[in-house]
Amino acid sequence: MTDEYRYPFSPYPEGWFAILEASELAEGELKSLEYFGRELVAFRGADGAIKVMDAHCAHQGAHLGHGGKLEDGCLRCPFHGWKYDGEGRCVDVPYSKEIPSNARQHSYPVIVWANLVIVFYQAQNLPPSWRPELPDLDGSWSVYGRNAFKVKVHIQDVGENGVDIPHFKYVHDTVMPDLVRAEGIETTFYIETATRKDSPHYQHLRGIKRQLWGMGISSSDFVGQLTGRVIICRTPIDALYSELSIVAVPPKLPSEKATAAFGKALLERVSEEIQSDIPVWEHKKYAENPLLVRGDGPISRWRRWCKQFYTEDVGPASATSRPRAKKKVSLPVANDAC
Ligand code: FES
Ligand SMILES: [Fe+2]
Repeated sequence: MTDEYRYPFSPYPEGWFAILEASELAEGELKSLEYFGRELVAFRGADGAIKVMDAHCAHQGAHLGHGGKLEDGCLRCPFHGWKYDGEGRCVDVPYSKEIPSNARQHSYPVIVWANLVIVFYQAQNLPPSWRPELPDLDGSWSVYGRNAFKVKVHIQDVGENGVDIPHFKYVHDTVMPDLVRAEGIETTFYIETATRKDSPHYQHLRGIKRQLWGMGISSSDFVGQLTGRVIICRTPIDALYSELSIVAVPPKLPSEKATAAFGKALLERVSEEIQSDIPVWEHKKYAENPLLVRGDGPISRWRRWCKQFYTEDVGPASATSRPRAKKKVSLPVANDAC
């Protein structure tokens, strides 16, 4: 397994990324985290809302997560006592009346969904120009639990699996499904597969409907007599590693026991399948010009859609008007090559 960076694009595309389970962060707790090649801290503000900011103090670089103190929803640095509110603004320099206007920590926009703390990352710390329209999970769904894996792979490669039709047979040992839809509309990508009637899985799985909001978050409905939902999140940790989170969301069944049993089975099954992908992901090289044939699935289409999230090379003059693919990238016919 190589330690060299294998991709012709940045390890850190912009997007919304899961970094933590909300229930893991108690009131008054300060957590240090590492994602996007950065060090971060997370805590709850005075109102209980989760705050995430860069860990190194704007003053002289102390790590706020090592000895920092939480005070009324603000975070005080352990080195010289500067205090930051949940939005990252310095609100107190205890030994000076002057607070420099640029005394602030980058604070990440946060969404909490399916017990996941999801933050917006953009290389130049620009505010989000889009938000994922995540489906409401209240009512008929239940969030069962999460498995997380640290994998040496780029998140784009993980997403590419969803449109890579033949790999379902060779990696996951299933009859190849039919690709019904693969369509990128702005920052959302839709993939729908149908199980073939000759598949042994046809009786309990008619197909999978998947939506991706950027490259970081996806939700897949496994459609059958009982439809189960699985949220898969992909978050860059550093230039080499990503964290893959699998959250099982079973439908609410007549008893809690039945719901939990469904959730457990869903989590185990999808985790098993992901573990089959991992050796391929970790050892492959990125084929920039893959030799595609009819039946390979819309790999090139997927890659064109992904391009809009690489904003790192945007210069300061154009940094506020980021390039964005507005075009619909659709696949009306099943299983074309690109
Ligand atoms: S380094 Fe944080 S207050 Fe000085
Ligand atoms: Fe796979």
